[in-house]
Amino acid sequence: MKHLVNMGKITAAITAVEGFVPDNVVTNEDLSKFVDTSDEWITTRTGIKERRYLKEGASSDMAAAAVKKLLAKKNIDPLEIDLVIVGTVTPDYPFPSTANVVCDKVGMKNAWGFDLIAACSGFIYGLTTGAQFIESGKHKKVIVIGVDKMTSILDFSDRTTCVIFGDGAGAVLLEPNEEGLGVIDSILRSDGAGRNYLLQPAGGSLNPASHDTVDNHMHYVKQEGQQVFKFAVTNMAEVSAEIMEKNNLTSEDVTWLVPHQANLRIIDATANRMGLPKEKVMINIQRYGNTTAGTLPLCLWDYEKQLRKGDVLILSAFGGGFTWGAVYVKWAYNS
Ligand code: UT7
Repeated sequence: MKHLVNMGKITAAITAVEGFVPDNVVTNEDLSKFVDTSDEWITTRTGIKERRYLKEGASSDMAAAAVKKLLAKKNIDPLEIDLVIVGTVTPDYPFPSTANVVCDKVGMKNAWGFDLIAACSGFIYGLTTGAQFIESGKHKKVIVIGVDKMTSILDFSDRTTCVIFGDGAGAVLLEPNEEGLGVIDSILRSDGAGRNYLLQPAGGSLNPASHDTVDNHMHYVKQEGQQVFKFAVTNMAEVSAEIMEKNNLTSEDVTWLVPHQANLRIIDATANRMGLPKEKVMINIQRYGNTTAGTLPLCLWDYEKQLRKGDVLILSAFGGGFTWGAVYVKWAYNS
């Protein structure tokens, strides 16, 4: 009877996914030429082997490239898109929003949109938000993007932080579904008490740009790695187990865990807590590093060919804020 629960209700199905990563590959070896680090340290502590750096352009350029491929793949006119949500912490500008810029670059002239700041949880926050507009009947075509040009806020004199991040973008199309496929449930959480452990301290209204903020490296991402690690391991694992329990899903029922790619050790802890073997876990951290809001759609993009209609996916993330959560998705198509 489980599969009949959603009959008649409109759900928001992911009907396409695309990604964009810059051509420029930077290996651990390359990094160790100008940062005091080693391939051995980065590999054993994080699982990362290489990442991509965007040489020219902004987050909107990576997002627009992913969206153009998405629309071409589905043969959809940009004018048909109703709403664009961009999860990012590296917008082109403080304002206007990156969503505005992406709509302009792609020609989505009938769409409105906004940026959503939830750091590494940007995509699951955006997916949950976008799904509401489909479920309510307000919109028929919503694009949710996760993009970050992390190199625009990396401090290459801070070896604990700079080695883990990379640049990239992923985008999904959401459309109404009446077969009970798509976004089924989500649990989203936040705790602002954790804000000082992972943040970009300056550039906002608290610490506007000044000579001091620049001299003190305050426009770069700052992370207290061990603290974040502690919270990430516990919360990402707990919320992923919680969404399974809430929806009566056993580890047998789950086809894929789609985890935020921050650290292989956090991913392993989450999979263990859910009782999932490695074969059911999407992992591409070794190739892209941590692309912040980009990691989850980039996983879906990389694994798209292996996904089948009806597959049960648990998307799970933890990031700055703190923000975290899990989304239960039933995959809607065979590619
Ligand atoms: O995506 C958003 C959420 N973010 C996360 O989930 C990240 C969570 N945190 C982490 O993944 C880990 O804390 C890191 C990968 C960032 C760091 O790993 P760690 O095991 O926590 O290392 P640490 O910061 O405790 O540093 C251990 C040692 C230190 O040396 P000593 O004091 O033991 O001599 C560091 O100085 O490693 C040293 N170290 C490095 N050595 C070589 C720190 N960074 C590097 C480096 N290369 N890049």
